[in-house]
Amino acid sequence: MSLNQRLGVNIDHVATLRNARGGAYPDPVRAALLAEAAGADGITAHLREDRRHIRDSDIEALMEQITTPLNFEMAATAEMQAIALGLKPHAVCLVPEKREERTTEGGLEVAGDEIRLKEFISPLADAGCRVSLFVAADERQLEASFRVGATIVELHTGAYCNFHTEGNVLAAHAELERIKHCATFAHNLGLEVHGGHGLTFDNVGPLAALPEIAELNIGHFLIGESVFNGLEVVISKMRKLMQDARN
Ligand code: PXP
Repeated sequence: MSLNQRLGVNIDHVATLRNARGGAYPDPVRAALLAEAAGADGITAHLREDRRHIRDSDIEALMEQITTPLNFEMAATAEMQAIALGLKPHAVCLVPEKREERTTEGGLEVAGDEIRLKEFISPLADAGCRVSLFVAADERQLEASFRVGATIVELHTGAYCNFHTEGNVLAAHAELERIKHCATFAHNLGLEVHGGHGLTFDNVGPLAALPEIAELNIGHFLIGESVFNGLEVVISKMRKLMQDARN
């Protein structure tokens, strides 16, 4: 178990913002390079089936330009498998995907889909990708993840984060205990344990303190919070440019 926990920065929502205008700005690759310069240990990007944020060309540019490992999130479909086998990213994280959802709402159903997932994972592992499964903190799913040949499990922290935000202290505590138990359980199976979804400045502490969790992947909050932490600088610069042009 390493002393330091890695931070994977998910840059999907820079692409969401870009796509709102249909142009090239803001560029998620520029955000990834800045994230690396700021101390990110890796970059995560989710190429959704509907390409609602990250596009194929973003993944290709990330592969070329970033210097930290790319964690390529995708659904377990033939199309995505072909893309991953072509690009061979450092890690492939399999997530459930539903067209109508706003974000990845639940964990992957591994226990009920073992034969298919084992076959799906095998060529990715042979190509040298570390295969991670995004799962609920549930012993059944973790045992199945081990059996299908995953190297990593990423525990879904969304429920804990939601209870925390609602101020439901008891439920948040119970979720945290479940995550703690499952982190140890998965670690003892020989799986590397990651965590993610919904993490913020306010709720990250207890998860960051768990020695079994080697990596946290954080996206939406970091991009959202950057609006508030960057807005002052950007508006001041625009004011100055306007003023300078008048002088
Ligand atoms: N980990 C996985 C597997 C995810 O699907 C997501 C969301 O795309 C995250 C982490 C990051 O979640 P958030 O954007 O809420 O920080």
